[in-house]
Amino acid sequence: MRIDRCNNVKDFRSMARRRLPGPIFHYIDGAADDEVTYRRNTEAYERCDLVPNVLAGVEDIDMSTAVMGQKLDIPLFCSPTALQRLFHHDGERAVAKAAEKFGTMFGISSLGTVSVEEIGSTIRTPKLFQLYFHKDRGLTNSMIERCSAANFGVLALTVDTITGGNRERDLRTGFTSPPRVTLKSLFSFALHPRWAVNYFTHEKFELPTAGLRERRVEHLGIRRRLFQHDARPVDELARRRECP
Ligand SMILES: Cc1cc2nc3c(=O)[nH]c(=O)nc-3n(C[C@H](O)[C@H](O)[C@H](O)COP(=O)(O)O)c2cc1C
Repeated sequence: MRIDRCNNVKDFRSMARRRLPGPIFHYIDGAADDEVTYRRNTEAYERCDLVPNVLAGVEDIDMSTAVMGQKLDIPLFCSPTALQRLFHHDGERAVAKAAEKFGTMFGISSLGTVSVEEIGSTIRTPKLFQLYFHKDRGLTNSMIERCSAANFGVLALTVDTITGGNRERDLRTGFTSPPRVTLKSLFSFALHPRWAVNYFTHEKFELPTAGLRERRVEHLGIRRRLFQHDARPVDELARRRECP
């Protein structure tokens, strides 16, 4: 199947399954434990109705909305997902450009594989940075400061990853990032040569937390825009959650 023949998420999923080595596909597609929450979340969307606005004319369709203070042209935005350049060598660069094309927000993960500076200078639409609060306060502060300098308008503070999920599919497939070269993974790469050639011939990526410890920033004053339903002071969150 070609990308222009994909009509829905199911089609994209089948294409990804064919194109990606098993461990990478299952990292994206899988969830924790018995995947009960994953199924319930999907079913919850199926129960939602979209209410059409009838007799309103179709000449000027305005789908714009505001999310976390950002004006978006469509009521969708790209949620942060880790390690995008593992899925495709363009990774966040391509997703950010797609978000800009549709006038919407791009969210980059704390485990992103393209720098916030590059994203900041590439797109003009709203940008969100997803932050895992780190035990090393200098590291956390440094990441926030870099996002602020790169014109990120929204900070999404993740508080539900107290520990990594027990992702059973990853345990079965032996998923690692970067992919470890073993007999099993070599077999998987051989079955997906296009992915393997692209992955191994493009520049390696580093997670943004790498090398940051040296650049400690003790004081900073930046706009803090947390989720409103749980807008606690950052220091209180730090006390509640001391991450590794
Ligand atoms: C492969 C993958 C990686 C993800 N990585 C992150 C991440 O690094 N940080 C984060 O806050 N959320 C992450 N998420 C969660 C997504 O941002 C999003 O909240 C979740 O997938 C629910 O949205 P959906 O129903 O559209 O998939 C990830 C999700 C997936 C599928």
